[in-house]
Amino acid sequence: MVRTLSLVGLAATVAAQFNINHTQYGTSPPVYPSPQMSGAGGWEGALEKAQAFLAELTTEEKAQIVTGTAGPCVGNIGPIERLSFSGLCLQDGPLAIRQAIYASVFSAGLSSAASWDRRLVRQRGAYIGAEFRGKGAHVALGPVVGPLSRSPFGGRNWEGFSPDSYLSGVLVEESVYGIQSAGVQACIKHYIGNEQETQRNPSTVNGTTIEAISSNVDDKTMHETYLWPFANAVRAGTASIMCSYNRINGSYGCQNSKTLNGLLKDELGFQGYVMSDWLATHSGVASIEAGLDMDMPGGITFVIPNPSFFGGNVTTAVNNGSLSTQRVDDMVLRIMTPYFHLKQDVDFPPIDNFSSRLGFFPASEYLYNFTLGPIVDVRQEQHAQLIRDLGAAGTVLLKNANGALPLKTPKNIGVFGNDAADLTQGQYSLSSTGTTLFQGDYNIGTLAVGGGSGTGRFTYVVSPLEAIKARGRSYGAIVQYITDNEYLTLGGLAALAPAPPEVCIVFLKSWASEGSDRSTLIAEWNSTVIVNQTATLCNNTVVVLHGAAPNTMPWRDNPNVTAIIAAHMPGQESGNSIADILWGDVDPSGRLPYTIANEETDYAKNLVNSTALVTSTDPDAWQADFVEGNLIDYKEFDARNASVAFEFGFGLSYTTFNISNLQVQVNGSNASRTPNPAAPVRPGGNIELWATLATVSVTVSNTGSVSGATVPQLYLSYPEEANAPHRSLRGFEKVVLSAGISGTLNFPLTRRDLSYWDTRTQQWTLPTGAIEVHAGFSSRNLPLRGSLTV
Ligand code: NOJ
Repeated sequence: MVRTLSLVGLAATVAAQFNINHTQYGTSPPVYPSPQMSGAGGWEGALEKAQAFLAELTTEEKAQIVTGTAGPCVGNIGPIERLSFSGLCLQDGPLAIRQAIYASVFSAGLSSAASWDRRLVRQRGAYIGAEFRGKGAHVALGPVVGPLSRSPFGGRNWEGFSPDSYLSGVLVEESVYGIQSAGVQACIKHYIGNEQETQRNPSTVNGTTIEAISSNVDDKTMHETYLWPFANAVRAGTASIMCSYNRINGSYGCQNSKTLNGLLKDELGFQGYVMSDWLATHSGVASIEAGLDMDMPGGITFVIPNPSFFGGNVTTAVNNGSLSTQRVDDMVLRIMTPYFHLKQDVDFPPIDNFSSRLGFFPASEYLYNFTLGPIVDVRQEQHAQLIRDLGAAGTVLLKNANGALPLKTPKNIGVFGNDAADLTQGQYSLSSTGTTLFQGDYNIGTLAVGGGSGTGRFTYVVSPLEAIKARGRSYGAIVQYITDNEYLTLGGLAALAPAPPEVCIVFLKSWASEGSDRSTLIAEWNSTVIVNQTATLCNNTVVVLHGAAPNTMPWRDNPNVTAIIAAHMPGQESGNSIADILWGDVDPSGRLPYTIANEETDYAKNLVNSTALVTSTDPDAWQADFVEGNLIDYKEFDARNASVAFEFGFGLSYTTFNISNLQVQVNGSNASRTPNPAAPVRPGGNIELWATLATVSVTVSNTGSVSGATVPQLYLSYPEEANAPHRSLRGFEKVVLSAGISGTLNFPLTRRDLSYWDTRTQQWTLPTGAIEVHAGFSSRNLPLRGSLTV
């Protein structure tokens, strides 16, 4: 797999890859040359079109295709009118077309993960794709599987899915299929090890450049945890992948030949293109040789005074022989093949006019004439319905005592907390922190999505209060509410003493955004005081948390707190989604895609930050050694056998379920321990890795009295040889069952699912002993057990 360095003149790159000042926890040995694409796996016809297109290009035009330019979108590739190529428009982000108006704001990745619902997540992708296409955006900059959520404090975890690589892998795959089914290119980001916001980019201290954080990851952990979901995305045919700001094992994400050439293009057989995160390119030829195909945002002059490392430098390098035409041609083919594959050359809508008002670039910087179309409304009735459904499906019921929920018809309802209210400081949270306009973490207003480039511009938000008032009104209830947390803290609830509500619903929120990590895992704005005060007044207090997760809950055992709901980031229909759950129109079928610890300090923090580091003048000071290996989130708690508040995979329904009859079927015994090395590599890797080697089935029954949905889960414990976590998720399915009804579920297990990464042989390897199989309803509620030998 690892090729020897076959190019001369790359001393700088090699030096950059071997960090000389720091003993590396992980290493990224050099892998050159950059593998050429072949179109294998379904892009053969599109590759022919791309080759014909390439044949018409001058060297300058090739450089143009691989370099961003000023334009109306957040990223732009300039048009070539002579060839009827109108350029490429790249837009954020994972949950909405951010740089747009009259577009929907969907549920965040976090809510999608909590739904554990493949069907809804694929549908979400398809609708997001349709909105991008409608606005003339060729590339959707999402979904996110980096960060994977190594640290519960990670500021961008909510943009992605789950710290569990298997769950993230399934959901990113569904998302890619969905987005690309609408004819829009997906861009999986941020590759790889982008696990903290703090020092994600270089800084300057006393005039010295301090390099970005280096995520130092060993080979086993890289394969089994961080690369895993990217493999799913590649298998699903993602058009592009965005390399990250951070360094990996000492080498910047966009010039790390091991991760780009070695893992992505060679081992996973990725056929598309690698684009840089915005200003994440730190060299020209060295990055190109290491596998970077497109520089973004490219040739700008106003953000930093330097032009792109690509652009004219690519032409010069080709002309003076320091860069081969072959490599540049491969970059162009990688970019143009998905464009033809998704038929973006035929009747693609023009770029929506609105984008340019919010552009990364002022119009004075434009070098090309981009064709702009009218401002179009891409929202649809069914998009709003899906957002409402997914918002509810991603809502997790954690506690439900004394039959508190679902609500029947309480005549006197209390609603408290700043998160219940309508927005009060605008509908667009681009800035992460500080006092600038568009700051998202303001006091009064519900938190339906996070901030930064992964946010969306709301055309409306249904607040929880608005939805609850509408419900109450429908049957003549009164709704008493206080949404000013400061007033509540000062004792504002006293006003309700003469008419105490039958149920008090407290809405809390936890802000998170690109650009900074979370400083606490306890909901903000005095949440603990507000819950305790409400519970003193009201012996039927329901607490709902919106925003980033996980959150610890110091009040969770208070007997007057009868119900707790983690409602995550539902998007524009937030209030309707929560009302559907509260009143029982929808059975809560969300399950935790992460662990909730008893105390904040119970988590492994896994975040590098300190005053000493911030003031250090050592350019190489920022190092994150991923010494915990695969043991993140539940795998870490399980390894310590530590108690938790609510475990990974947990969630309650309004009905009860039983699971029985675990059966294991192995497709032929004595499979070879490793995939046949002669088998073709297709997007996703050696094709044998994806063959189903065994199937586990279970029977699930709804034993309650109402219809409901649940998520049966399958976990494997590998023999010692695998040096694997105690248990690893390897199957799940959301099932809807009427009361009294049973169904059978099959969990197919691929070779990859059953293997571990052998660092010595550099192969996915099946363990020789028996693999234990566990099935149940959470990572710690696994009543069924079996064993499997392949
Ligand atoms: C930087 C972010 O990291 C990335 O996710 C985003 O797509 C670009 N900025 C463009 O906004």
